[in-house]
Amino acid sequence: MKFCVLMGSPRREGNTAALLAPFLAECAALGAETELIWLYDKKLAPCMGCMACQDSLDGLGCVQKDDFENIFSAMAGCDVIVLATPVYAFFCTAPMKSLLDRAVYAGTKNYGRKRGPKLLEGRGVATLVTCGYPPEKGADLWEEGVKRFCRHGRLNYLGILCRRDWGRGEPFLNEEREQAARDFAQALILTLRTDGMLTEC
Ligand SMILES: Cc1cc2nc3c(=O)[nH]c(=O)nc-3n(C[C@H](O)[C@H](O)[C@H](O)COP(=O)(O)O)c2cc1C
Repeated sequence: MKFCVLMGSPRREGNTAALLAPFLAECAALGAETELIWLYDKKLAPCMGCMACQDSLDGLGCVQKDDFENIFSAMAGCDVIVLATPVYAFFCTAPMKSLLDRAVYAGTKNYGRKRGPKLLEGRGVATLVTCGYPPEKGADLWEEGVKRFCRHGRLNYLGILCRRDWGRGEPFLNEEREQAARDFAQALILTLRTDGMLTEC
């Protein structure tokens, strides 16, 4: 069982990293493999909307040569894609948005001369989020975006863990939050085991 964790926070010691740490520890404790990719370390240009990818039915076909293809391969080669991000302007951070824009087009051949495969079909998607507003106002649009992304590419939306940044210098992580992150990992792993969602990889 493999998790591909796409980390969209620019802050190595930030809130999202703090919430992610017990999640990753629990995955490891339960024997799940994780690949953690820090998106701010990668070159991920924004989609140019050239549509070249739509006529490439046997691969991604993105004309921009940067880290996108490798990251997409990691997404395609796992059972669950974890989108870990702080909320910025009601959605994810910029490198994650670039990645999703390019994945939703190059990975779903709906708009060219012929329809082609949905390259991430069947993968699970979970999101681990931190935001400044209460989650129902801070992360609602992001969660809806992730759900639509999944519906569009026939991925399986598995759920969200979101905790609020209180600001004012208050510590972000506490016992409840650590446990919630561990429980989230456990629940995902249980879902994969019981729903037989595992892919051959
Ligand atoms: C540029 C920027 C934009 C933000 N926009 C939002 C927002 O739209 N909604 C929200 O709830 N919080 C917003 N926040 C707060 C962050 O989501 C929150 O502080 C988060 O926990 C930061 O995570 P990090 O420590 O991993 O960077 C924003 C923060 C920054 C720096």
